[in-house]
Amino acid sequence: MDLITALEGLVPELQRGLDQASSLEDLEGLRVDFLGRKGRLAQIMSLLPKLPPQERPAVGQTANSVKERCNALFEERKNALEAGREAAALARFDPSLPGRAPWRGSLHPTTLVMEEICGIFRGLGFDVASGPEVEIDHYNFESLNMPPEHPARDMQDTLYITDTVLMRTHTSPVQVRTMLSRRPPVAVVAPGKVYRRDSDLTHTPMFHQIEGLMVGHDISMAHLRGILTAFVRAVFGADTRVRFRPSFFPFTEPSAEVDISCCMCGGKGHVNGEPCRVCKTTGWVEILGCGMVDPAVYAAVGYPEDVSGFAFGLGVERVAMLKYGIGDLRMFFENDVRFLGQFA
Ligand code: PHE
Repeated sequence: MDLITALEGLVPELQRGLDQASSLEDLEGLRVDFLGRKGRLAQIMSLLPKLPPQERPAVGQTANSVKERCNALFEERKNALEAGREAAALARFDPSLPGRAPWRGSLHPTTLVMEEICGIFRGLGFDVASGPEVEIDHYNFESLNMPPEHPARDMQDTLYITDTVLMRTHTSPVQVRTMLSRRPPVAVVAPGKVYRRDSDLTHTPMFHQIEGLMVGHDISMAHLRGILTAFVRAVFGADTRVRFRPSFFPFTEPSAEVDISCCMCGGKGHVNGEPCRVCKTTGWVEILGCGMVDPAVYAAVGYPEDVSGFAFGLGVERVAMLKYGIGDLRMFFENDVRFLGQFA
């Protein structure tokens, strides 16, 4: 048989095969069948040595040309099949449907408020300090002028680990640690977790405080007032009023509690004629405890007698509730993403 005719015959035959191919897998089958190592083209070419030498070049040229044309046909059919696949996929996909927004993470409101407050105090020249949550009795109570059996220890229901080791009930032990490791003047704030044996609607066994301490020479109650007023206005707005009420803490003398004008009713006690549920119509809400550091604390840490300074401690969740108008303390600990997502 004439090899050239046989070779030329492959092209229309492949064309018929390709017309019937409906997938890329079919295509691959045809490629093996026609152009593979033992395929049709190769079989025909295996007869080449039987030809007289002068006829061989023409057959070789035809083989190359047939191979090229076959490859072009494959290419063409492959593109068509791929385009069909894409069109089918697009037919199942409605590009006009609203997309799914990517999930956006957010910082926890407690973290947000803690960072904001520390930022404000950093701006006022304070360093940020920290201390352990598992604390010794000596730093949590004794150095803070609360000897064993002191009744003030009852103010804080303590979670004890051993007789002398406990979960810190406040951040005030960081005052002690700071003064033991630094000479005056010092100005630090210390954010962190504190623990109390207490759990009901308005108390959780763990919550966050920020401690403040400034000790140097000639630091007075006026500085305390000035710093705390600046802080309150930075967090709650420039119109916020601040009130100091006499109070008692064993480690400060004199001591005070600080109220701010209620941010819910603006200090009026009523919202749209309704009694304000945040301040219970008083127009004021308590936000922190503070005072001038008691000389007994300086003695406990070995500070000289001529220093003076102030300390304060505030509840972070409390500030966050007032700032964001959150009515329920439990929200901070449930980690409901519908709640947390609002702070993104
Ligand atoms: N540690 C006190 C408390 O937790 C708050 C406080 C801190 C008061 C510093 C005065 C000075 O109640």
